[in-house]
Amino acid sequence: MKDWHIDTFGEIYPIIYAHRTVEAAESEALFAAEALGLSSKDSTLDVGCGGGRHMAHLQKRVGAIVGLDYSAALLCEARELMPRCDVVRADMRAIPFVETFDAITNFFTSFGYFGDTENSVVVQQLATALRSRGRFFVDYFHPAYARYALQAESTRTVSGLNLQEQRWIDEEARRLNKTTKVYRENRLQGEYHESVRLYEPEEMEQLFAAHGMIIQQFYGDYDGSPLSPAKPRMIAVGIKG
Ligand SMILES: C[S@@+](CC[C@H](N)C(=O)[O-])C[C@H]1O[C@@H](n2cnc3c(N)ncnc32)[C@H](O)[C@@H]1O
Repeated sequence: MKDWHIDTFGEIYPIIYAHRTVEAAESEALFAAEALGLSSKDSTLDVGCGGGRHMAHLQKRVGAIVGLDYSAALLCEARELMPRCDVVRADMRAIPFVETFDAITNFFTSFGYFGDTENSVVVQQLATALRSRGRFFVDYFHPAYARYALQAESTRTVSGLNLQEQRWIDEEARRLNKTTKVYRENRLQGEYHESVRLYEPEEMEQLFAAHGMIIQQFYGDYDGSPLSPAKPRMIAVGIKG
């Protein structure tokens, strides 16, 4: 599964996750803007911006917004959605900004893709890109909820393609894994992988604190409910201390 994030976030990604729409992102972006206290004075970096569906809403709230992603295909979508938007193709392990932004957002589990050392490098890079007292919003999944709600297998049809999805937790590696097989008329077209580290809330706090990133608040979902194993998300909001 090495470098799975390069293959999976190509042209197939908007098909597999077609239900994650620009419209669905509006309330999520507004929630982030409120949680971060964003205003027209703020500059924001959306790390793992994908097709820019959150940027499209955030840009109305902030002075400047830049999207960063490694996927050329998804960055093209962002440009189609917002022809004048600023997007940068870069790896989140080597973010090309130093003390530039008032806030960083990271939506829909765009973190935890690597081993522990490299995930730590990502946090260090987020910290470097933020100005002093800059704020961050990281929307991750709650590991306890993922264990409880895991659907091991599912099948669905999207845009004439049959998707067969398998999900499993590797407790030894502490990762949530997913394989999606894509068929057209019973012929296998491709196989895509995802593998994300299971971070417990305390581990997440420690990982961020190690880079001077203080998590001040966790939410369990976009309705503002508190962190709980019964809620799907682990949304961390904090400040570069
Ligand atoms: C789960 S998607 C979320 C996309 C977007 N935030 C959304 O909600 O639609 C994760 C995103 O992270 C990007 N990504 C994966 N690995 C990356 C890396 N090493 N550096 C930068 N972006 C990366 C993918 O290309 C993809 O756009």
